[in-house]
Amino acid sequence: MEIAPGAFHLKGYLPIERQRAFVGSCRALIEGEVPGYVPVVRGGGKMHVRMLCLGRHWNGKTYRYEPIRSDYDQREVPPLPSAFRDLACEIAASAGMTLDADLCILNYYDADGRMGLHQDKDESERSLAAGVPVVSVSLGDTARFLFGGVRRREPVEALLLESGDAFVFGGPARLRYHGVTRIVSGTAPPELGLSGRFNLTLRQY
Ligand code: SIN
Ligand code: MN
Repeated sequence: MEIAPGAFHLKGYLPIERQRAFVGSCRALIEGEVPGYVPVVRGGGKMHVRMLCLGRHWNGKTYRYEPIRSDYDQREVPPLPSAFRDLACEIAASAGMTLDADLCILNYYDADGRMGLHQDKDESERSLAAGVPVVSVSLGDTARFLFGGVRRREPVEALLLESGDAFVFGGPARLRYHGVTRIVSGTAPPELGLSGRFNLTLRQY
């Protein structure tokens, strides 16, 4: 379903068995050797998600990408798993776009998780100018997602991102504002054994 030129909501994209496999990977990664953490951003506020970057680290203090988590624990960012890269490529193609992802921001939202309205604009100028898409994959509890215009004051549309949904925004939609107002707890498919929500955003720097 096309939400706006260049923005597609692919409902129920991932069947439950594929969701289970990705949930397993997300869990292992976020609880792994280089774990997820709650970023503290520029103004000093804590984010309302637990984050783990893969492939390139997004620094919440500088809003730049780097190979070392210099705003947190000085550890090297874990690599982007090839299954994540392949998934991004496949989903972008379903929306008629191409994406050779080299990074993923994996976020875990608990029942109180949320993310303010923002643009994804920290990737390279070249990637942004070309409108290389961001591919988002949702797993677990449903999120109330806002999708607006390229200016903050423009009206926003609210939609529900459910487990297995993909959302792609590229081309003229690449710099549209978006955010998550709330998590609808207890809505994850029981087969996942997950409370809360994982969201993967796959991007090309
Ligand atoms: C993000 O904008 O980085 C995350 C969006 C989402 O969780 O659906
Ligand atoms: Mn974003």
